[in-house]
Amino acid sequence: MTILSTSYIKISLYFHVTLFLLLSLTNSESQQEHSILLKIKLHLQNPSFLTHWNSSNTSYCSWPEIACTTGSVTGLTLVNHAIAQTIPSFICDLKNLTHVDFSQNLIPGEFPKDLFKCSNLEYLDLSLNNFVGKIPYDIQSLVHLQYLNLGSTNFDGEIPSSIGELKDLRFLHLQYCLFNETFHFEGKFLKILEIWLHWRNWIYQEII
Ligand SMILES: *[C@@H]1O[C@H](CO)[C@@H](O)[C@H](O)[C@H]1NC(C)=O
Ligand SMILES: *[C@@H]1O[C@H](CO)[C@@H](O)[C@H](O)[C@H]1NC(C)=O
Ligand SMILES: *[C@@H]1O[C@H](CO)[C@@H](O)[C@H](O)[C@H]1NC(C)=O
Ligand SMILES: *[C@@H]1O[C@H](CO)[C@@H](O)[C@H](O)[C@H]1NC(C)=O
Repeated sequence: MTILSTSYIKISLYFHVTLFLLLSLTNSESQQEHSILLKIKLHLQNPSFLTHWNSSNTSYCSWPEIACTTGSVTGLTLVNHAIAQTIPSFICDLKNLTHVDFSQNLIPGEFPKDLFKCSNLEYLDLSLNNFVGKIPYDIQSLVHLQYLNLGSTNFDGEIPSSIGELKDLRFLHLQYCLFNETFHFEGKFLKILEIWLHWRNWIYQEII
C-alpha cells in the first residue's frame, strides 16, 4: 500500500511537473510574440494606429492587423498607414509568419533581406512603397513563396532569374517598377498562374 501510494505520488508529481513545463513553455512563447509585436510598434515609432498594441492587451491574436494559427502569429498586415520606417530587422523573430503585407506605405531603402529568415513565408506584399535597388538574387531562399507583389516601387535593374526557382509561386506582380525589361527565369515555374511584369501596363499570362 505504501509502495503503491509512493509510486502514485511519484507518477502524479512527474505528470504535474511535465504539464507545468509544457504550459509555461507555451506561455513564454506567447509572451515572446507579444513583446516582439510591441518592439515592432516601437520600431515604427509608436504610431497612433497601433495604440491597441500595448502591454495591457495581451490578446494580440484579436488585433485586426494580426492573424494567428493555434495561438501563434502567422500574419502581419500593415497596409496604407503611411509607414515611413524600414521593415524591422527582427520581424522574423515571429517564427511562424507565413503572410506579410506592408503594401501602400512609404517604406524606404533596399529590399528588406531580413525577411529571408522567415522560412515559412508564403505571401509577401511590399507593393506601393519607396523601395530602391535590386531584388536580391537570394529571393529564392523563400522556398515556400506563393504570392509575391513588389509592384509600384522603385526596384530597378534586372529581375533575378532565381525567381524561377520558386516552385510554389503562383502570383508574381512586378508591374510599375524600374526594371529593364530583360528577364530570364532559371528553373521551371511549376504552378505560376499570373505574372504582371510590364513597366506601364500589366501583362497577364497563364502558364500552368
Ligand atoms: C491598450 O489597448 C486597449 C484596446 O485594446 C485600449 O483600450 C487602451 O486604451 C490601450 N492602453 C493604452 C495605454 O494605450
Ligand atoms: C484587445 O484588443 C482587441 C482589438 O483591438 C480588442 O478587441 C480586445 O477587446 C482587447 N482586449 C482587451 C483585454 O483590452
Ligand atoms: C509555431 O507553430 C508551432 C506549430 O504550430 C508551434 O509548436 C510553436 O509553438 C509556434 N511558435 C511560436 C513561436 O509560437
Ligand atoms: C539590364 O540591367 C542589367 C544589369 O544592370 C544589364 O547588364 C543589362 O545590360 C540591362 N539591359 C538593358 C536592356 O538595359
